[in-house]
Amino acid sequence: MQTSELKLASVDSTMEAAKGLAASQDFLLVSAEAQTRGKGTRGRPWQSRPGNIYVTLGVNRRHLPPARLALLPLEMGLHLWEAAAALLPTDSRKCLTLKWPNDLLIKGGKAAGILMESYGEFLLIGIGINVAAAPEVTDGGTPSACLGQAGMPLDGKDALIDDLYRRVQAAPKDAEAYAAESILLRWQGKVDWDRAHIIRDRPGKPLVLPLAVNGQGHLQVRHADGSREWLVAEYLA
Ligand code: BTN
Repeated sequence: MQTSELKLASVDSTMEAAKGLAASQDFLLVSAEAQTRGKGTRGRPWQSRPGNIYVTLGVNRRHLPPARLALLPLEMGLHLWEAAAALLPTDSRKCLTLKWPNDLLIKGGKAAGILMESYGEFLLIGIGINVAAAPEVTDGGTPSACLGQAGMPLDGKDALIDDLYRRVQAAPKDAEAYAAESILLRWQGKVDWDRAHIIRDRPGKPLVLPLAVNGQGHLQVRHADGSREWLVAEYLA
């Protein structure tokens, strides 16, 4: 198994640094203490001051058969939930939920987000985790929260990064836990199904309630008028 790891003090974006590192390895990791041009989903910026986690994990496509790829966004949400929960006091874990497909929430505030990009042989998985600071959100996104407020030790950042990297590599070896049915079941158990969300980038920003997830990782929602819709790539806030 060939891997490459790069831990930086500051970088424009760990996504861009990962592209520079990508060759024919099996897995790669680039992390940074701060980013000057952090990228969020849909071209939005990701505020990246010191104290939080900025990491990109690269998975060579030879480790991503179609069956795994379809549910990888949900699988990544599970890794994030489980790795973060392991560093929190037991009574804080119940505050930790997932918002489709893989935002990590604490008491409804966004503590982490994931950006996936394809690059050559690699799928790059960028993960931003608020540990010490919850940056102010001024663009209509979900208000933020940070794991430090929920009791995560501020010196636990490296342990969390390493645990995520280990989980991404180990998952295919645990055929039972990472069978599609198991991912769906465990992911569903981490969602707050009573919480309504807005479809952020759609005119009128409709309010929807999540109802179900299918084997492609799509989310069924109910609109205020009772109609139902399957979401594929929308962003919920
Ligand atoms: C989101 O908008 O929810 C996804 C945010 C992803 C941010 C991370 S931080 C590490 C990696 N490098 C980036 O520039 N973006 C991702």
